[in-house]
Amino acid sequence: MKIKDALNLAKQKNDSTRKLLECEILLCHIIKKDRIFLHSNSDFEISNSDFELLLQHISKLNNNYPIEYITNKVGFYSQYFYIDECALIPRPETELLIDYASKMITKNNIKKIFEIGVGSGVISIILALMHKDLEIVATDKSDKALEVARKNIKLKSILDSSLENRISLFCTNLLDGIDRTKDDFIVSNPPYIKNSYKIPPNLHFEPEIALFGGDRGDEILLDIINLDAKYLCCEIGYNQGYLKDYLKNYDDICFYKDYSSFVRGFIAQRF
Ligand SMILES: C[S@@+](CC[C@H](N)C(=O)[O-])C[C@H]1O[C@@H](n2cnc3c(N)ncnc32)[C@H](O)[C@@H]1O
Repeated sequence: MKIKDALNLAKQKNDSTRKLLECEILLCHIIKKDRIFLHSNSDFEISNSDFELLLQHISKLNNNYPIEYITNKVGFYSQYFYIDECALIPRPETELLIDYASKMITKNNIKKIFEIGVGSGVISIILALMHKDLEIVATDKSDKALEVARKNIKLKSILDSSLENRISLFCTNLLDGIDRTKDDFIVSNPPYIKNSYKIPPNLHFEPEIALFGGDRGDEILLDIINLDAKYLCCEIGYNQGYLKDYLKNYDDICFYKDYSSFVRGFIAQRF
């Protein structure tokens, strides 16, 4: 079957509003070509088994399965990262956390930071790529998520061969068992949804440990605040701006908003 016919048929089966784009992304993934190839070779013949696989993938999408977990690829901060069901799919809002953390690192000439809940590794990797002499100690409670981070560090070592030496990964709760100093810099996008919250269907495929923060939702955030780092950058839920009441130890606090103008995180510093 020709590419153009496969895409036309597949698009009719896709319930999403991004019908054609998603079909193209999936077909590229299956036949291991890029979208430029699809557009310039629309008469190229694909096999029946590839077309069947395309339809199977579309049926998964129709059941709210995230396309990133099918292609094992996610775009974040103008780069592609590996992703699978073992780690949260990085969200665009988290790019803001990186920007705020990066400014704080530059301003205070920070040489070492800690990330809690590294997941796929995107925060630590982007910060390490931005700051060439930065050392990062990153933890996660999920060893499966740490495997995804490890894969991404290896993948991005093409851009900077020092990444594997500068980012150390540990499987632990928060920073348990990790050597700390009094001038700690902690960055974290922890799970912050309350356990009883009815999440949208697409989130059902992501690891619960990456989403739910406890009965109130803010339990892990409060644990992180209680670690009393000198510099703290955290992503939070849109309704968790009240956390400023728990940051009384800090001299300089700034809550930032996301692209939809919801409060999405804070940076805090002790002098
Ligand atoms: C919201 S995800 C963030 C992943 C990644 N940093 C990002 O921004 O895309 C939260 C991560 O925290 C990890 N996590 C949950 N509870 C934790 C804890 N108590 N200590 C360390 N990591 C934890 C989860 O396994 C998950 O990978």
